Amino acid sequence: MITNGVPCYTVLNNKGGVGKTTLASLSAEYACINHRKRVLLLDWDGQMNLTKSYVGVETVPGWGRLPVPNPIVAAMAAEDPSALEIYNLRSTITDIFEANKCVMPYPTRFCYGDPDDVASPRIDIVAGNYMGIKYLLESSPTEMKNSPYHRLAEIGSDQIIQHLVDFVSDPSLAEQYDLVIIDTGPSDSPLFNAALNAATHVFCPYIPESKSVSGIEALIDAVKTAMQNRVIYKYRPEKLQLLGIAPNIVDSRSADHIQCIARAMEDAGSFHLDEGIWLRRLTAYRTLTDDVERRPKPYSIFHEKPSNPARRDAEVFFECLYNGIFSPEVA
Ligand SMILES: Nc1ncnc2c1ncn2[C@@H]1O[C@H](COP(=O)(O)OP(=O)(O)OP(=O)(O)O)[C@@H](O)[C@H]1O
Ligand SMILES: [Mg+2]
Repeated sequence: MITNGVPCYTVLNNKGGVGKTTLASLSAEYACINHRKRVLLLDWDGQMNLTKSYVGVETVPGWGRLPVPNPIVAAMAAEDPSALEIYNLRSTITDIFEANKCVMPYPTRFCYGDPDDVASPRIDIVAGNYMGIKYLLESSPTEMKNSPYHRLAEIGSDQIIQHLVDFVSDPSLAEQYDLVIIDTGPSDSPLFNAALNAATHVFCPYIPESKSVSGIEALIDAVKTAMQNRVIYKYRPEKLQLLGIAPNIVDSRSADHIQCIARAMEDAGSFHLDEGIWLRRLTAYRTLTDDVERRPKPYSIFHEKPSNPARRDAEVFFECLYNGIFSPEVA
C-alpha cells in the first residue's frame, strides 16, 4: 500500500546539460549543510554522474561500470557473509528490481554526528548502474541472455514506475531521510517518466539563452501533463507540485541573459521563480560533477566563507527551493 512518504523531488528539462545533476547535488548539500537535513540522493541516470561525484566508479569485467564496493555492506559481510544474500556489495538502484535484494545507500563525506545514528544529518546516495540502466531501457532482451542484467530487459515501463514509486514512498525510508532527490537523464525515457510519477515535487532549470527560452512553453506543458497524469494513474496519492522554473548558469552582466530571463518570466508567468532569483555561473565550481577525488576544496560551495558572493547567491536560490518543500507558505 502506498502511504505519504518522504518529500521527493526531481529535476525536469527536455534538454540535456542544463544543470539537472549539478542542481540535484547542490540542493542536497544546501539542505544538509544549512538546514541539517538527512538527504538521500538517487542516481537514476545511466551516466552515473552523481555516483562519480560522491562515491567513485570503476569497471567490473562482465558487469560494466559500477560504484566502488559499499563500505557498509563490506563491513557487514566481513562479520557475517550471509549479508551478501540481502545486499549486493556494489549496491545500486537496479537492486530495487531484484526480488530478494535490498538497496544499501552509500555514505558520503557529508555527515554531521554519529554516522551510525539514523538521526544524524547527512547525504547518502543510492548509486547508479550504467549497464543495469541500459538493459532496463533495452527492448530486445533475446540478444542479452548471457548478461547478468538480462532480467532487467524484461521489465516493462509500468513496472519501472511501480518499483521506483514503492522504493521512494516506503514509510521506512521516511524514518531515515527528510528529503529524497532523484537525478535523472533525458526526458523522453521511461526512467524519466518513472521519476515524475515517484516525485512529490518537480523543479525545472533552464539556461537563459534563446534556444532554451523558446522551449519554456513546452516545459510547462510537460509539467502540466505530469500533474494530470498523477491524478489519472495514481501511482502516488500526493499531488505533484512545481517548485518553479528557474534560470541556471546566469551571467548577470550579460544583457542577453537578462533579456532571455524577462522573456521566460513572461511566458512562464507564476510558474517562474521570482525576479532576481537564479543560480549564477559558478566559475570556481565548474568541476562540480567531476570524479570524487578531483572535487575542489572546500567540497561544497556552502562551506565557503559566508561573505563569498557565489555562496550567498546560491543560498538565496536554494532557500527558495527548500521553502517550496518545507515551508510552502513562505515560498
Ligand atoms: N550554475 C552553474 N555554473 C557553472 N557551471 C554549471 C552550473 N550548472 C551546471 N554547470 C555545468 O554545466 C554542465 C552540465 O551540467 P549538468 O551535468 O549538471 O547538466 P545535466 O542537465 O545533468 O546534464 P545531462 O542532461 O547530461 O544529465 C556541467 O559541466 C556542470 O558543471
Ligand atoms: Mg545529469
